[in-house]
Amino acid sequence: MDMEAKEVAGHNEPDNAWFTTHGKVYNETEYLRDHPGGADILIEAAGTGATEAFDNAGHSKDAREMMESFLVGTLKGYRPKKPRNRPSRARTPPVSNDSDRGVLELRHQGVPGREADERIHGEAQRRRRGPLQGPPGAPCGTGTASAGGSGMVAGGTGITPMFQVIRAMCDDDRDLTRASLIYANRTEQDILLREELNSLARRYPGNPDVYYVLHHPPEDWPHGKGRVTEDLMRERLPAPEPDTRIMLCGPPGMLKAARSSLVDLGFEQPVAAARMTDQVLIF
Ligand code: HEM
Repeated sequence: MDMEAKEVAGHNEPDNAWFTTHGKVYNETEYLRDHPGGADILIEAAGTGATEAFDNAGHSKDAREMMESFLVGTLKGYRPKKPRNRPSRARTPPVSNDSDRGVLELRHQGVPGREADERIHGEAQRRRRGPLQGPPGAPCGTGTASAGGSGMVAGGTGITPMFQVIRAMCDDDRDLTRASLIYANRTEQDILLREELNSLARRYPGNPDVYYVLHHPPEDWPHGKGRVTEDLMRERLPAPEPDTRIMLCGPPGMLKAARSSLVDLGFEQPVAAARMTDQVLIF
C-alpha cells in the first residue's frame, strides 16, 4: 500500500507507532518492548523518517530480515537520496599508549578498501605530533587508580579506550587495580583486540578479567550470550563501593541500558562529560 508521509506522521504514539526507512513504512508498535536497542529510540522515531538513525545503529542482517514482518507499505513519491560522500561509521581509534615510543597502532573497524586506507592515513597524520591521549577522565597509569577495582563495559569499537586503560594499568607496577571487563559484540568475528586482551590477561595474572558477550554466539560459546544485562553486571563488575570505578564505551543502545542498570545496582548516575572524580565514566 502506498501512503503519504502525512499519514505516517499520524502514527506517533507508543500504542500506534510507525516509522519509515528507505521509502518503506513499518509498524513497530508490537516490537517496542522487545527491541534490543530500547523502546525509547523507537518511540522517538514514531511518525517520522528514521533512515539515518536506523542505518547508523548498524543493524545486522537478522534485524533487517526481522523488519519484514512489520512492513505495512511504501512511502508515496519516495526517491532515494544520492549517497553523499560522507564519512562512514567505521572508526579508527588508537590502541597504542604513551609507552609505545615511535609506534602508533590504529585499529580499523569497517570494510577494507580505499576509504579504510584514507581514514587510517588521515588518522595517523592527525595524531603524528604530541602525546597520545587516553580516554578523557580515565584513571590511566596513576598508580592509585581505584582501590575498589575497575569495572568496564564495552561494545564494538568501544573496546579501544578500555584497552588503553587496561594496558596502562598492566604497564604500571604500582597500579594494583583489579579490572573486570565485559565486552559485547554481535558475532565472534567482530571481537577486536581479542588476542591482545587475552595476552594481557595471561601475562598479568588476576588482571584483567575479560568476559565476552555475543549477540549471535557460535555453538558451545563459553562466555556470555545475548545482551549485557543487569544480572551480568552484578555478577562480573565490582560492587558499588566509593572507590570503585566503572567505565562505559559502546553504541548508544548499550550505553543507555548499562547506565540505567548501574544506577539500579547502586552506582552514581553517570554524567555526559567524564571527570576523574566520577564513579561511572562514559567515553
Ligand atoms: C522494526 C524495526 C526494527 C527492528 C526489527 C530492529 C531490530 C534490532 C535488533 C535485532 C537489534 C540488535 C542488534 C542487531 O542485531 O542489529 C537492534 C539494535 C538497535 N536498534 Fe533497532 N530495530 C528496528 C528499528 C530501529 C530504529 C527505527 C532505530 C532508530 C531510530 C533503531 C535503533 C537501534 C539501536 C540504536 C540499536 C542498538 C545498537 C547497538 O547497541 O549495537 N532500531 N535493533
